[in-house]
Amino acid sequence: MIAETIKNSARILSGAAIAEEIKTEVFGEVKKLEEEYGFRPYLVVVRVGEDKASAVYVGSKVKTSEELGIISEHRHLPAETLQEELLQIVDDLNCREDVDGILIQFPLPKQIDESAILEKINPEKDVDGFHPVNVGKLSQGQKTLAPCTPAGVIEILKRSEIEIAGKHAVIVGRSNIVGKPMAMLLLQENATVTICHSRTKNLAEITNQADILVAAIGRAGFIRGEHIKEGATVIDVGINNVSDADFARELFDDAEIEKRLNTIEKRGFTLVGDVNPKEAKAKAANFTPVPGGVGLLTVAMLMKNTVDAAKMRRKMWKSEKVKK
Ligand code: GUN
Repeated sequence: MIAETIKNSARILSGAAIAEEIKTEVFGEVKKLEEEYGFRPYLVVVRVGEDKASAVYVGSKVKTSEELGIISEHRHLPAETLQEELLQIVDDLNCREDVDGILIQFPLPKQIDESAILEKINPEKDVDGFHPVNVGKLSQGQKTLAPCTPAGVIEILKRSEIEIAGKHAVIVGRSNIVGKPMAMLLLQENATVTICHSRTKNLAEITNQADILVAAIGRAGFIRGEHIKEGATVIDVGINNVSDADFARELFDDAEIEKRLNTIEKRGFTLVGDVNPKEAKAKAANFTPVPGGVGLLTVAMLMKNTVDAAKMRRKMWKSEKVKK
């Protein structure tokens, strides 16, 4: 079962169950590619420096690849790596026949211009969907490799049977990784889309019109009950560390607070989204938890993009347009 109901509050949309479904589908596709066409998709993940969160994310990407039969290579480069050196590595990976997907984990050290690296990646191998060519295709409604996190949000909505067409979707956050591509994907699904950001005036007035509210601002518990329309679907894309016990008490209900306080005591922090979960559960009809929500979909969608990139390079991907 994809979703479970908790008391009289919002239906909690489980990212775990949906991510498992997608990974099972990807596993089946990889098996088919190997049995019928004699190859397995190949992903290279490059990490530069010692960012702790990146080490965890990359570890999970490599481990999931292996579980699904995708060949993966992890390149870990020193923090002093120069831009020229990384550009050369990307160039080499672009030229390698066996490599289907290239992912350069962000953030990169200060001496490296992230845009220059992104633009160097062959768009056909850009499994993050961040290359300007892929961003352009997405905005024109062409079939392409779409950024993994917003693509995962669409999967959560569809597989939870939440209608998108004709609904007002409000996104809070305008990043290139989530907010902007999220808007394009929701538009492709025929939602009416509004993007809000740090300079938006009367934020609550706009978010209160949202049938689907996507929070991707990077501020713990920023979206409160006053921002949410009764019966809305609230998708929380944020991942923040909270170490303050009093703040945690504002965010979590009786059923959860003890566990969260224990985590803070043991690990020094607990993971919290951009939405106040206690208040969201009281007003929303559907809500994605953190952790256990959207985050789990990002890796699953990366696996799907890697398989799609492998098929696209071999002209095995249907080239039909996604939308008019
Ligand atoms: N850093 C944080 N999220 C991402 C992501 O989705 N892709 C890459 N390449 N780096 C990230």
